[in-house]
Amino acid sequence: MSCRNITVHLAITLLLVLFSCGKNSVKPASASAQQPPANSGLRNVLPFPFGAAVNTDLLEKNKAYRDVVVKEYSSLTAENVMKPKALHPGENTWNWAAADSLVSFAVKHGQRIHAHTLIWHKSLPPWLETFQGDTQAWERLFKDHIQTTVSHFRGKVASWDVVNEAIADDGSMRKSIWLEKLGPDYIARAFTYAHEADPSALLFYNDYGHEYGTSKREVILKLVMDLKNRNIPIHGIGMQMHTRGTIPDKNLIDAIQTAASTGLKVHISELDIAMNPENVKDLEFTGALADLQAQKYRLIVKTFNSLPAAQRFGITTWNVGDADSWIPGKYGKPDWPLPFDKNYQPKPAYRAIVEAVK
Ligand code: XIL
Repeated sequence: MSCRNITVHLAITLLLVLFSCGKNSVKPASASAQQPPANSGLRNVLPFPFGAAVNTDLLEKNKAYRDVVVKEYSSLTAENVMKPKALHPGENTWNWAAADSLVSFAVKHGQRIHAHTLIWHKSLPPWLETFQGDTQAWERLFKDHIQTTVSHFRGKVASWDVVNEAIADDGSMRKSIWLEKLGPDYIARAFTYAHEADPSALLFYNDYGHEYGTSKREVILKLVMDLKNRNIPIHGIGMQMHTRGTIPDKNLIDAIQTAASTGLKVHISELDIAMNPENVKDLEFTGALADLQAQKYRLIVKTFNSLPAAQRFGITTWNVGDADSWIPGKYGKPDWPLPFDKNYQPKPAYRAIVEAVK
């Protein structure tokens, strides 16, 4: 570089330094001016990641949906497109397109991806359900599904639900093709295989019903503690928390606190609060129901926020607006389980989530 070039270079650097000092020296009018405004989105207001399961068709086609996903959430989970049926339609066929575009979307908008799910008794491709082979062939298939999937997303997703819903409601091991073909220790091997394929991904055991009562919850906690004590690479526990407005507060508090007692990271991974558990065909979403729902959201967020920061992996709601939720379709009746209404307007539950961390 010539002398003249160095002088020009220094002058530009000096100007840039002065400019940035000038910017920094503009003081906010008050301390509260440093807080993001309440309407800046939950992703800026909550002190832990806040996520949604997203429907990739809606993300592509519906602008209102896309806008709210960008504004409100710092973490995304694929509602369906990372399940085996979607990713692995033939023994030697993989379909990454929808999942990859979700990953690109998240990268573009500075959002984390929590990937869901590797091993589950549902959402299996038909070829797998009819697969014929001895134990070794099943083990190869199992390992290949896990490692091909995890390797594909290596470095792009933060975490995986490795095994989903392996415990039945009565606390027994859930009957599944995996249990039948591979025996109960398939769970530990799934974690080991996933870790081999992406040593930096955080690995979760995910299940529902922690808040139902002690029986199923204790079996789940014993399972994850057993994995942890055997040095199987498990980093977190996912509580789906598909719950309802009638659930007692104590059940929610106990569920969250006992999950944290494992020392693992805690993810409330599929939160929704159904308000029509009696399946009333013509029920209306009254102000009283909206308030009851808000109170439950507030309690869940407050309890979660009281966990040690390092254990707060995040809270993910299962989709975004009431019209997108799987709950009405599942039970064939109206329901309003999410913090946004069908027009993506915030409900009282939204305000309650913000207030819960104040
Ligand atoms: C559900 C989806 O929301 C539906 O669209 C799909 O038809 C079935 O699966 N537990 C889980 C989720 O772990 O993957 C399920 O998602 C809801 C229950």
